[in-house]
Amino acid sequence: YLGAHLSVGFFSFPYFSEFDIFLPHRDNITVFIERGTVPPPTNACNIIFQRRRSFTLIIKPGERAIFSFDCPDPAKHYVLEVQKSIDCMAGPCPFGEVQLQPSRLPALNRTFIWNVKASPKVGLELKFSSPRLRQIRPGDTCPDLVTYSISGSIEKTAANIGTFCSNGTISQIKMQGGVKLALHLPWNQNRNFSGFNITNRSSIKRLCIIESVFEKEGSATLMSANYPEGFPEDELMSWQFVIPPYLRASVSFLNYTLSNCERKEERVEYYIPGSLTNPEVFQLGDKQPANMAGNFNLSLQGCDQDSQNPGALRLLFQVLVQHPQNEGNKVYTIDLRSEKSMSLTIEPKPLRTNRHFVPACLICEGPTTCSPNLTLTSGNKYEISFLCDDMTRLWVHAEKTISCADSGYCSRKSYQLLVASDIIQLPVQLRDYTWKLLVPKDKFSLQLTPAQKLQQHTHEKNCETTFSYLLASAVPGQNLYFGSFCPGGSIEKIQVKTNISVVLKTFLPGFSREAFRQGMTVTFIHSLKDEGVFTVTPDSKAKVYLRSPNWDRGLPPLTSVSWNISVPNNQVAHLTFSKERMGVSCETGRAFMIIQEQKAKAEEIVSRDDEPLPKPRDLHHNFWVNISNCSPMNGKQLDLQFCVSLTPKKMDMTVIILAAVGGGATLLFALGLLICYAKKSKKKKVGKGPAVGIYNGNINTQMPEKTGKFHKGRKDNDSHVYAVIDDTMVYGHLLNVSNGSFTGPEVDVYRPFQGPMGDIPPSPPPICSRISTRKLHPEDPLPFFLPESDGEPYTFSHPKSVEVKGNGDNDIPLLEKKELEDIME
Ligand SMILES: *[C@@H]1O[C@H](CO)[C@@H](O)[C@H](O)[C@H]1NC(C)=O
Ligand SMILES: *[C@@H]1O[C@H](CO)[C@@H](O)[C@H](O)[C@H]1NC(C)=O
Ligand SMILES: *[C@@H]1O[C@H](CO)[C@@H](O)[C@H](O)[C@H]1NC(C)=O
Ligand SMILES: *[C@@H]1O[C@H](CO)[C@@H](O)[C@H](O)[C@H]1NC(C)=O
Ligand SMILES: *[C@@H]1O[C@H](CO)[C@@H](O)[C@H](O)[C@H]1NC(C)=O
Ligand SMILES: *[C@@H]1O[C@H](CO)[C@@H](O)[C@H](O)[C@H]1NC(C)=O
Ligand SMILES: *[C@@H]1O[C@H](CO)[C@@H](O)[C@H](O)[C@H]1NC(C)=O
Ligand SMILES: *[C@@H]1O[C@H](CO)[C@@H](O)[C@H](O)[C@H]1NC(C)=O
Ligand SMILES: *[C@@H]1O[C@H](CO)[C@@H](O)[C@H](O)[C@H]1NC(C)=O
Repeated sequence: YLGAHLSVGFFSFPYFSEFDIFLPHRDNITVFIERGTVPPPTNACNIIFQRRRSFTLIIKPGERAIFSFDCPDPAKHYVLEVQKSIDCMAGPCPFGEVQLQPSRLPALNRTFIWNVKASPKVGLELKFSSPRLRQIRPGDTCPDLVTYSISGSIEKTAANIGTFCSNGTISQIKMQGGVKLALHLPWNQNRNFSGFNITNRSSIKRLCIIESVFEKEGSATLMSANYPEGFPEDELMSWQFVIPPYLRASVSFLNYTLSNCERKEERVEYYIPGSLTNPEVFQLGDKQPANMAGNFNLSLQGCDQDSQNPGALRLLFQVLVQHPQNEGNKVYTIDLRSEKSMSLTIEPKPLRTNRHFVPACLICEGPTTCSPNLTLTSGNKYEISFLCDDMTRLWVHAEKTISCADSGYCSRKSYQLLVASDIIQLPVQLRDYTWKLLVPKDKFSLQLTPAQKLQQHTHEKNCETTFSYLLASAVPGQNLYFGSFCPGGSIEKIQVKTNISVVLKTFLPGFSREAFRQGMTVTFIHSLKDEGVFTVTPDSKAKVYLRSPNWDRGLPPLTSVSWNISVPNNQVAHLTFSKERMGVSCETGRAFMIIQEQKAKAEEIVSRDDEPLPKPRDLHHNFWVNISNCSPMNGKQLDLQFCVSLTPKKMDMTVIILAAVGGGATLLFALGLLICYAKKSKKKKVGKGPAVGIYNGNINTQMPEKTGKFHKGRKDNDSHVYAVIDDTMVYGHLLNVSNGSFTGPEVDVYRPFQGPMGDIPPSPPPICSRISTRKLHPEDPLPFFLPESDGEPYTFSHPKSVEVKGNGDNDIPLLEKKELEDIME
């Protein structure tokens, strides 16, 4: 609809271009040609239109104009403005790519103005695909002199959003209820595209949203609306930032002033990935967040100003995007292709909630997907990296299920419980690794053989390794915790009757250095009668402390546990119990503790729940310590702890006599020994009184003597046992019944104990050994008789039962809370 002809000698002004502009009615475009702001020499140049000279030309919608200039350089004198109104109130909006119309305009400085009228409820989105925009401060110019000016309106007042060059990061500007966009082009720019499109959106509920997309390192300077004038009263403006993974963003406020607020508070709010306290609220005077990973947004909220003295809220800020400053982009490979039924999660440690800003800490899978937590599953191989300023804010935990589904197959198979090196190499603390070992009920039991013999964690002998194994039943409803075990002890083998979870838990940093001490072999064995059997082969020097499962809250009802303790040929074992009694009060049945040497015709030393435990004694052969619980009354539970120490066997009598020949002094010494020996042998070994009752774990219920005194004797039938356990289940409410999902290990030690407790502390034990005269070094194990207290010189918190009289709504189990506190200090 228009044309510019090169006309020669049409007027008396040869060689100058003639322009033909036609503006169809429907385009709603008006063109203004007028003299520029720089005052030119008078009469230097005129517009020739309809054979008349003039200084202005206005072409309205539906009109056509053929004109020219009477000078060779009209760009020095004239500017051109194209105004187009788009009225979305009257009819549907012509959305989409915005055309730069009309084309073939004279080469003057020109401004295209689009004035979009829309309902105040409609959001309008201006999208600048390429080039993107860069906001400039008022008065600054763009290198190519191509400038966008954008303003909106609040009711009838205009609000200036900003001036932009076409070289930056701003990809979108969303406005509410109408927008005016002006594109200024210098006379020598022959650009023929507008560079943006418009679409309608639902309400954005604020003045505007400016989105910046960073593709590489860079910075953006941004301003509040109307800058350097005051931000509109009680308004809200937001900026969104898209930041590539591997880069970090920092915000700094270069300049701001506050208005005088009558009500509400001026502030900025951030949404930051990885923050647990979004939105993060800052005052303008605060130090703003830095080193943020991931996309974030920021909003400026004004207030109701004092009408007498409003002041001005204004903000000029910079977002700087750069590579992380203090951490390499190391990529870790985790290969889980040969694993089965296994998952691994890296996640933030729970933090005590506070309103302080915490920079993001993200885990990235591959080059682009970053999130605050990441779960990896078996069968896949992963490349992961971290965007995190402080790796101690993360931890990793893993779970694996090993089940024996085909009994013929698994009876021949063994499994290794090992934390793979791919996991050990991660720069993140291993919180725990849980193996769930599942066997068909009553068909198989499990045998765990540690790579290094284990020590049970007790107060007398703490585990001082960086990690421990926590063993607990994985049968829903069975609240049985076998204990915490670490390498470096005497326990050679642990057999458990049925499904358990083995949790390798780290307590100190440095697991990677000690990881060579981990490892357990699992095999499937014929079904056991006892809930657990511990095979203990003590070393000659160390004292071995052992305690019954569920220490401090009692062995579950009708449960039996055995210890097979071996005594080398040339040694004598000294067995000491930590208390005088078992501590249990039975409601039904009887509880027993039986000691029996593993030799022909060995006597059984039996203690019943109502009898004292045996005095310290020496044993010359491998022996059993078996315990079997009744259904206890609330409050008085069965806790048994004992200590085994080895000493060299006294010399044989013939040897003594032979030796006596050697010399008088030796003879005297030997005689002394002999007397001592004889005296000891005379001591009666059997506990007083005949033992009566049922050893709950054995199929051939042992009823030593006086059978029939207790008519509550029951057949040893497991279904019966479980039924009783269900009825008397004391801790069942604490169990996390997760139906086999991976929601967390069913290790009840993590949870605060809320059940009934014995009212008397364990009574002081008799001597276990020849210690105790020497002064205690702070690092020495505590003596046997110290009751538990918070003042214990623990350097790390191993599981222990803590009585909590709360409502049990704690989200973070107590132990973990305590650990956290330790970590945070
Ligand atoms: C055209 O724009 C340039 C650069 O902004 C300016 O120097 C010049 O004065 C303008 N011309 C007129 C006639 O205003
Ligand atoms: C783009 O902007 C930067 C400043 O942000 C400037 O240094 C650079 O020269 C600009 N490039 C062009 C082509 O205008
Ligand atoms: C702009 O000009 C280029 C060539 O200079 C042409 O290919 C393109 O189609 C034009 N675009 C419009 C919207 O006219
Ligand atoms: C945009 O406008 C069209 C037509 O006017 C309408 O059908 C559509 O619902 C609008 N979209 C939004 C998000 O308002
Ligand atoms: C900011 O980010 C949060 C979280 O992604 C989102 O819910 C919110 O709508 C965003 N706000 C703006 C203005 O972009
Ligand atoms: C992991 O993050 C996702 C969102 O990124 C969240 O929905 C999920 O609850 C998180 N899981 C954990 C265990 O924190
Ligand atoms: C142990 O787990 C297996 C597999 O989930 C299940 O079949 C079996 O009944 C469980 N054993 C007990 C005692 O609950
Ligand atoms: C008890 O332990 C000893 C020594 O380890 C071993 O030889 C024996 O077989 C064990 N007995 C049982 C019944 O497991
Ligand atoms: C002790 O328990 C073991 C293992 O269950 C068993 O073989 C042994 O016979 C028991 N001894 C006594 C005296 O009950």
